[in-house]
Amino acid sequence: MADIKVIFGSSTGSTESAAHKIAAALNADCVNVANATADDFKASTLILGTSTWGVGELQDDWQSGINLLQAADLSNTTLAFFGFGDQESFGDTYLDGMGELYEASASRAAKVVGKTSVEGYNHSASRAVVDGAFCGLALDDVNEADKTDARIDAWVKQISTELA
Ligand SMILES: Cc1cc2nc3c(=O)[nH]c(=O)nc-3n(C[C@H](O)[C@H](O)[C@H](O)COP(=O)(O)O)c2cc1C
Repeated sequence: MADIKVIFGSSTGSTESAAHKIAAALNADCVNVANATADDFKASTLILGTSTWGVGELQDDWQSGINLLQAADLSNTTLAFFGFGDQESFGDTYLDGMGELYEASASRAAKVVGKTSVEGYNHSASRAVVDGAFCGLALDDVNEADKTDARIDAWVKQISTELA
């Protein structure tokens, strides 16, 4: 299996918990972006996770991490993204943080995997929607915590196929 690293930022634990589940399922390393170094962004597959805070802002620990991401050479790197938000209370900025990570990196990557359908979600706008699909896995522990584990399981299968 290729060298896979999950890098996450999380304030209240949702993204952290998902990051560990995804990493365990893929036999990947898991790093909190608060402790990440430039070397962490050198894996052949990077799976980047963030929640969204404020009004459409990246989770705090990504504020410096995004500089490492922007400086990374991603020309041989496959990327995937996952994010947590609240599609009901923040329907105009749902998962904007995930969209920001995508915008900061996707065009420089060898490949992006793990895009998902917007069907079944209730947001009105999201920076994470690219060409009509979420740029990664869309999670919502505020309103749909009961769906999180199944969404993670399905997505891990999807990206395993796309990575193969
Ligand atoms: C003050 C505040 C602002 C938030 N802003 C947004 C937002 O703009 N967009 C969004 O999708 N979610 C927003 N959320 C929801 C969080 O992203 C959500 O609670 C998430 O599960 C937190 O994940 P974490 O525990 O990994 O940090 C906000 C939550 C709070 C409390």
